[in-house]
Amino acid sequence: MTKTIAFHLQKGGVGKTTISGTLACQSALDGFPTLLVDVDPQGNASSWFLKQAPKYELADVIQGKCFCQDAIVKIPTVDNLSILPTFGIGGSLKGYSETKLAEEPFVLQDLIKELSNSYERIILDLSPGLGRLERAALIASDEVITPMTPEVFSLDGLEIFIDELNKMKKNLRSNVKHSKIIINSFDNRIKQHRNIYSAACEGAFTVYKIPVDPLFRKAQEAGMAPQLFKKNGKGLKSTTVEAFLALNKAIWR
Ligand SMILES: Nc1ncnc2c1ncn2[C@@H]1O[C@H](COP(=O)(O)OP(=O)(O)OP(=O)(O)O)[C@@H](O)[C@H]1O
Ligand SMILES: [Mg+2]
Repeated sequence: MTKTIAFHLQKGGVGKTTISGTLACQSALDGFPTLLVDVDPQGNASSWFLKQAPKYELADVIQGKCFCQDAIVKIPTVDNLSILPTFGIGGSLKGYSETKLAEEPFVLQDLIKELSNSYERIILDLSPGLGRLERAALIASDEVITPMTPEVFSLDGLEIFIDELNKMKKNLRSNVKHSKIIINSFDNRIKQHRNIYSAACEGAFTVYKIPVDPLFRKAQEAGMAPQLFKKNGKGLKSTTVEAFLALNKAIWR
């Protein structure tokens, strides 16, 4: 049975793309055909993994301009990994979400249902914010996992997200599960990071930590899976690898 997971917090720059992309790579490297859907009009996940702009994008699929098979691209550097891309420049996802999506709030839910025939594991990378597009993606998902950076404002952002998600679940009759938080860019030497982690653990969530690791940015610049990328002979830190393996195991359970 297919599982669809979205990574979301309405705040920007907390690691949604880095974590969704790295987990999609891990799932594919483990041998599972995995689809990463770029639901962010910025198209960061797409520019990370694709060197050339593909012919079609997600917005074309949901507007009926092409079939999903026409738009899905196999990622050349990672076996078993495909992406349904979004063009950051010249793309039409933003325009679509601001105009037509209001009349079609279940369009992504319908699309995921269709994609479930071909993929067991689907990961959605969302944009910051909590507008129509993000809501349409959240109700299309089985689970939403919240990445946050170890800052006080992120805890405030989490509170707001929980509140908005509960309203949305009620209004749109959604059952999306929300039980995991990831504290990203965690540095155990910093007291504030440890305090934020402890505060996050006090809630009803299972809390995971991803260490700060400069290799993510370098792998993204090189268009590579972080797990396969090496700079001057060095790859991800062993603590980062361990953290991702534990997270990967937990999310597909
Ligand atoms: N654990 C980490 N260690 C070091 N750098 C990281 C880590 N996670 C993410 N980054 C870097 O932080 C920046 C922001 O990450 P990312 O783009 O994944 O955030 P985002 O939440 O998707 O942002 P947006 O809200 O704009 O979509 C990127 O340059 C990324 O390489
Ligand atoms: Mg992003």
